[in-house]
Amino acid sequence: MTEHGVRLGTVQETLLIPLYGRAVDNRKPDAILRDTRAEEIVASIDYDFARFDDLPSLTGAVLRTSLFDRWVADFLAAHPAGTVVEIGAGLNTRYERLDTGRTRWFDLDLPDVIDLRRSFFTDTPHRTMITASVADTAWADTVTSQANGPYFLAAEAVLPYLAETDVRQVLALLADRFPGTLLALDTAGPGIVTTQDQHDALSKVDARMQWSCTGPDELAEWLPGLTVLASHTLSSLPRPMHDTLPASLQEMLAGLARQRLPQVEEYQLNLVRLPGAS
Ligand SMILES: C[S@@+](CC[C@H](N)C(=O)[O-])C[C@H]1O[C@@H](n2cnc3c(N)ncnc32)[C@H](O)[C@@H]1O
Repeated sequence: MTEHGVRLGTVQETLLIPLYGRAVDNRKPDAILRDTRAEEIVASIDYDFARFDDLPSLTGAVLRTSLFDRWVADFLAAHPAGTVVEIGAGLNTRYERLDTGRTRWFDLDLPDVIDLRRSFFTDTPHRTMITASVADTAWADTVTSQANGPYFLAAEAVLPYLAETDVRQVLALLADRFPGTLLALDTAGPGIVTTQDQHDALSKVDARMQWSCTGPDELAEWLPGLTVLASHTLSSLPRPMHDTLPASLQEMLAGLARQRLPQVEEYQLNLVRLPGAS
């Protein structure tokens, strides 16, 4: 039953792509994430999701989320009462998958997204939604005044939509307010950003990426002391994760690796440690 019409801003609309990816994944017998919540949310939102049917990017989004999940799960295994901040949370459901029962969690996004998010999720003593742009400084005070850390910052499919000057400002803010903290983020290279009008999913919406980045080493030039802990493409996922994927998907990824397409090789999923003492 359709209950919620969506009126989202241009970049905000992109949250519906990974949401639908997780819902479609959930329909498969060998689902990667098994996100029943995404399926329920999609069913209750009045939006033409069919435009994304059968797009390879849906699988890419699920794989990206799965890798970010692994990084957050590793952090929470070491720090079960640690704090996770989802920057540009959209309608993601990572908390549902990974909460240890002691985790402190913040979901940050722009006003219209948080309004929509409140239709499906509620704040609890352990979980707080924050209405802000990541470029604002006040949200960091909200987090640090309510949670001592250690922190994990996840910015999944968010920063490429910002202008480079804004990304630089955001990274400087994060390094200043969360020194030594783990940050997961994706980067899209020039071969992706310059051809995005032909991108299977982005061509179906109005939002466009603005920040082109050759890889996480560029970030270390901006922020001396930043350490790159891991960087993967969808065709070079960590072996333990790759080996859990359905055989048909492993074959598809092997084919992608052989083709070395810029659209795949220049899209990097990165785990970095911000400079400074943690
Ligand atoms: C592609 S969606 C990803 C959503 C979510 N991270 C996921 O993986 O399902 C991009 C998200 O970034 C958010 N976003 C874009 N610019 C932002 C900003 N300046 N501050 C906070 N969130 C932002 C959008 O509103 C949207 O929810």
